[in-house]
Order: sequence, then C-alpha cells, then structure tokens
Amino acid sequence: MPEIFAMSNPAVAGAGIAAAAVALARGGLVGLPTETVYGLAADARSDKAVAAIFAAKGRPRFNPLIVHVPSLAAAERIADFPAAARRLAEAFWPGPLTLVLPRRPAAGISPLATAGLDTVALRVPAHPVARAVLAAVDLPIAAPSANRSGHVSPTTAAHVAADLGAAVAVILDAGPTRVGLESTVVGVDGKRALLLRAGGLPRGQIERVLGAPLESPGDDPDRPPSPGMLARHYAPAARLRLDARDVEPGEALLAFGPSLPPGADGAAAIVNLSPSGDLTEAAARLFAALRELDEKAGRIAVMPIPQDGLGEAINDRLRRAAEGR
Ligand code: TXA
Ligand code: MG
Repeated sequence: MPEIFAMSNPAVAGAGIAAAAVALARGGLVGLPTETVYGLAADARSDKAVAAIFAAKGRPRFNPLIVHVPSLAAAERIADFPAAARRLAEAFWPGPLTLVLPRRPAAGISPLATAGLDTVALRVPAHPVARAVLAAVDLPIAAPSANRSGHVSPTTAAHVAADLGAAVAVILDAGPTRVGLESTVVGVDGKRALLLRAGGLPRGQIERVLGAPLESPGDDPDRPPSPGMLARHYAPAARLRLDARDVEPGEALLAFGPSLPPGADGAAAIVNLSPSGDLTEAAARLFAALRELDEKAGRIAVMPIPQDGLGEAINDRLRRAAEGR
C-alpha cells in the first residue's frame, strides 16, 4: 500500500516531496495532484518506469502520455515550438493546456511515453505540489490521469488510492483539485492548431490568443485524432441518460442549476453540480459526482448542461461516460 502524505500539513509536506522524489528517481510511481486532476507520475526518460504506468492503469500501449515539465524553457529542449505554440505556452503556462508538438529526438524521452509517435504532448502544471516535485527531481515527468484506463479521472487522493493503490509507492494528498477536468489538448504544427481534447481551458480563451478558430481533427482525414479519445471512456458502471428533462423511477439525478425536473423528489440520490448554474463549479465537481452516484444507483439521469465555456468539455466527458451502454 502507498505511503500517503497530507500536503496541507506543513510539518508533513516537505517529507512528502522528498519521498516522491526518491520514488521517482528509483523508477517508481507517484500519485500527485495537478490543478486539473491527479496524475500517475514516473520518470519520462525511463522505459521501465513508463512501462509501469501502462501496467498499473491497464492502458493500451498505443495511447501516449503527457510529459510534465517545470517551464517553457524545459519544454523547448523536448519539442519544437512553432510560433503559435509559443504564444499559447506564454499565455497559458503554467496551467491546464497540453501542447502536442514535433518531438526533438535528442530529448531522451522514452519512446513508450510517446507511443512511438514523432510528436510529444507537453504541459507545465500550475499546482504548487506538482511544481515542487518537478523542481525536486529535475526530470521530465510522464503523468496520465491516475485512474484505471477507461475509468473516471481522479480529483481526490482517495480516488487514486481506490483505483491504483497497490501500484503506487507514494500519494501526495492536496485535497480536491481546482479545475476538475483534464487539460485541454491542442496539437500545433507549422500550419494549424487542432483541438485534440476539450478540457479545463475553454476553447474561446485559446482562440483569442491564436486570433483564429481551433480546427477539429475530424476535418482532416490525414490526421488521426488524439489516440486517447476512444468513444467510451471516463465511464462509471451506471448507465447515463443525458439531457434528461425528468427523473424516472430508480434513477439518480445529476443536476445542474436552480430548478430540478419532475420526478426529482423520487430520485435514488441527487448531486447538483452547481445550484447557481456556474460551469466552473460544475467542472470541479463532475468526476466526484459521477463516482458518488455510481455507488448509489444503476442509472443516472443527467440534466442538460450549456455548451459554452467549460460546458464543451463537461458535455464531452458526459457523452463518453454514456457511450456504448
Ligand atoms: O490534465 C491532464 O492532462 C492530466 C494531468 C495529470 O496532467 N493528464 C491526463 O493525461 O489527462 P491522460 O494520459 O489521461 O491524457 C492524455 C491525452 C490522451 O488523450 C492522449 O491520447 C493525448 O493526451 N496525447 C498524448 N500524447 C499525444 C500525442 N503525441 N499526440 C496526440 N495525442 C496525444
Ligand atoms: Mg486519462
């Protein structure tokens, strides 16, 4: 079982960072908080450490990992930055944006981490604990979300322990994550910027910096979408009914906004993502709400959620969670 450090306790935090650094240097796995979701971290240069990530998650080897670095300068040693990518990095790093860029072969990143592609996904996380770990190890850190492959991403240390407990050496517990959705993934080459995964940084903010709309990978038959975007993903065991205007007998309700639909008083359980209808609050609560309702009912009615701002990513995750049941 992992050693768990309560990072909000100043008497424990330093020992937590040190234990994480030792585990990572030995090729071990660490559950660590980022501002988006908890990550399952390992040394991105080590084939053996990266292989342990795939094994622990049960993740298909063709699905590449995000490499976390402390700064744009560190990222530039690993990938080439077209002008548009540099503008995005300067505007949004540290923060919930991942850039998929042409990989520099000399960077020493394990080919397992990039699934043999000639691109690499890079992110500079904003969470102080993730930043402290990066500063302590001085290594590029591969870190997918710290959940079993196909399951809902973890927004608390308890979620990490429940999904992966036995496989990780250390978990750094910094409480619930602030954003609650994974980073937005944008692929940039010399010509275009593609939205590969909607996420915690809304499309509109990115397009304002680019001065152009993000393209979608579906528009280009030569360019496969992000390998991780399998239709069914982020999935609870329960069956989800989206855009529900009522609650049927036996269903739990995932609510949004001030007024509940007919049948809500008979719901098996109710979680309201944001009684005031705030999408930032809803994003932060989404994954914990899915885990909670999953334990209480076999079917979940999901109220409509607006598509603007973070709503694009929230609705994307809900569609995947509902897929193929
Ligand atoms: O917020 C996040 O991004 C979290 C935290 C821990 O940083 N990490 C995360 O990692 O969500 P993961 O592995 O669960 O999702 C990474 C996504 C996948 O959809 C993967 O296919 C895509 O990024 N990706 C990684 N490398 C890629 C590449 N070279 N080309 C296209 N997509 C890539
Ligand atoms: Mg994931």
